[in-house]
Amino acid sequence: MPIEPNLPPTPVRVWDLPTRLFHWLLVICIVGSVASAKVGGNAMEWHLRFGLMVFTLLAFRLLWGFVGGRWSRFASFIHAPATLLRHLRGQSRRDEWLEVGHSPSGALSVFAMLAILGLQVASGLVSDDEISTTGPLIRFVSGATSSLATSWHKSWGQWLIYTLVLLHIAAILFYLLKRGNNLTGAMVRGDKALSDDTPASRDTLVTRLLALVLLLACAGVAGWVWSLRT
Ligand code: HEM
Repeated sequence: MPIEPNLPPTPVRVWDLPTRLFHWLLVICIVGSVASAKVGGNAMEWHLRFGLMVFTLLAFRLLWGFVGGRWSRFASFIHAPATLLRHLRGQSRRDEWLEVGHSPSGALSVFAMLAILGLQVASGLVSDDEISTTGPLIRFVSGATSSLATSWHKSWGQWLIYTLVLLHIAAILFYLLKRGNNLTGAMVRGDKALSDDTPASRDTLVTRLLALVLLLACAGVAGWVWSLRT
């Protein structure tokens, strides 16, 4: 968001603590699940654990997209195509606050990542590596569905995740090196230097406790899914 010359930049809370923890835990779990799948053998137990942690995190982020801090809510980064085009042409209005949280183009990549990760978890739940590892819900689907899910999980799903993550990191490097805009700092500390009339995300003890309750509920659902395995 361009700073108005007459308004000095001030730290504004954009990413609340739950969103930041979600992000960095997600990074750890994705790296862990890829590494454990590549090692194979006994490490596949860890692949399943990381997969269930990704399940928990995605379910949490889905809920947080409705009740989280202002800039973490889906409503703040779902835009009409016309808004995206205006933004790309550099014609967005200041009071639209399009670059405080996820920019309209960044939002597309966020939704794509969340959707592909969701599909990867869903397919993993019913996959079968035909060695010793099966997803916890495999007994609820037919052999044909499980084969299809396994094939997606190992090919398209895996490669789409690599592609989206590489694009994500490339975009963050582009902002840093070409525009001098360090987006990662805000994903670590939570604040961006913006004009002081910029609306902030709520990030209080109460909202953090709410996030903890939601996360525990999501972990409970993941645990229940795990308990359904034979
Ligand atoms: C496995 C790797 C990664 C995945 C799956 C991933 C996923 C995501 C997701 C889902 C979001 C949206 C956050 C939300 O609204 O809840 C996001 C945002 C973000 N990520 Fe990552 N991320 C990865 C790696 C990284 C790395 C390595 C960095 C920095 C070095 C990074 C920096 C950021 C930043 C700065 C944002 C906010 C972008 C914005 O301002 O619109 N991410 N990431």
